[in-house]
Amino acid sequence: MNTNLSNIKKAAYYLNNNDCVAIPTETVYGLAANAYSGKATKKIFILKKRPKTNPLIVHYLNLADLKKDCEIDKQFLKLYSRFCPGPITFVLKLKKGSKISKNVTNKKTTIAVRFPKHKLTRKLLKILNFPLAAPSANISQRISSVTKLDVVEEFGKKIKFVLDGGRSREGLESTIVNLVGKQKILRLGSIEKNKIEKYLFKNNKKSQQKITVPGQGKIHYSPGIPMRLNIKKPKKSEAFLLISKRKNKNKNYFYLSKNKNLREIARNLYKTLRIVKNLGFKSISVEKIPNKGIGETINDRLLRAAKRK
Ligand code: TXA
Ligand code: MG
Repeated sequence: MNTNLSNIKKAAYYLNNNDCVAIPTETVYGLAANAYSGKATKKIFILKKRPKTNPLIVHYLNLADLKKDCEIDKQFLKLYSRFCPGPITFVLKLKKGSKISKNVTNKKTTIAVRFPKHKLTRKLLKILNFPLAAPSANISQRISSVTKLDVVEEFGKKIKFVLDGGRSREGLESTIVNLVGKQKILRLGSIEKNKIEKYLFKNNKKSQQKITVPGQGKIHYSPGIPMRLNIKKPKKSEAFLLISKRKNKNKNYFYLSKNKNLREIARNLYKTLRIVKNLGFKSISVEKIPNKGIGETINDRLLRAAKRK
C-alpha cells in the first residue's frame, strides 16, 4: 500500500478513537482531534498546556460539512470562493444544534473555521465523519511546528502519531477574519492584509482594527531566549538572522533569505528560531524586516517572540 495512504488510515484510526494526531497544513502543523468529541478535544488542552478559555480552530473539507455547524452568508461565500482551500480562518456564528464540542468554542456562540489546503490533510478529512479541531502543534506560547521533527520536539511520545506531510509551505499561521458583527482581521497571517481587506472594507476604508483574539497574547511564538529586533550589527555571541547576503562569513549568521524575499523569510522563520535555540545560542538578533505585505505578519510574530513579560 502507498505509505501516505496507510499513514492517513493510521491517523484516522487514532482520531476515531478520541486520540490526538498532529497533521500537516500549508501554514503550520496542527494538533488535531475530533471536534465533536469532548473527550478528544480535552486532550488537546492538556497536551498543549493551553488555557480552557482559548478556543480552537476547526478544520473542514468543504462547504457541505461546514454548513452542518455554522451559519453562513454571502460575504463569507465571496471570501470562501476567493481564498479556500487556503490559509484563511473565519470567525462565524455557530449553528444551533451543532455537534461541535463546547471545549472547542469555550461555550461561545462563535466558532473559528478553516479549510486547509494540504493534500494529506484533505484526504484525511475525506475519510473522517467529523471535522478536526486543531490549534498549532506546539506547547502554548512557544514556536509553532513546521515539520514532523518540530512536533516530536514539542510533544515527544505524548502524542500517538504525526502525519508527516513534509515542511509547511507557508510557515506562518492563517489570517483570521471576523465575520460576526463588525468585519475585521483579528490576526495577521499568511494572506496579506490588503488582499483580504479589499473584500471587507469596500464602503468603510477608514476602519482600523485592534487585533484581539483570546489566544493572541503579548508573549507568543517564543524561542525561550532573548531576542533583539531591527539590528544592523549583532553582538559577538548572538545568533544573527539575516534577510540579505553579506560579504563576510560568520558562523553566527543564519539566512532567512539571501535576497529579501518575504515569502522565503516567512517560510524559514520558525524553523530558524528553533535551530538557533537548539544550537545553544543564548540570544538572537534579527535584521530589520520591511513592514509591507507578508512582512507585516513576520514583524507581528517577531514582536511577540521578543516579548519577555
Ligand atoms: O494556520 C493556522 O491557523 C493553524 C493551523 C494548524 O490551522 N492553527 C492555529 O491555531 O494557528 P491556534 O490555536 O494556534 O490559533 C488560533 C487562534 C487562537 O489565538 C484563538 O484564540 C483564536 O484563533 N480563536 C479561536 N476561536 C476563536 C473565536 N471564536 N473567536 C476569536 N478567535 C478565536
Ligand atoms: Mg498557536
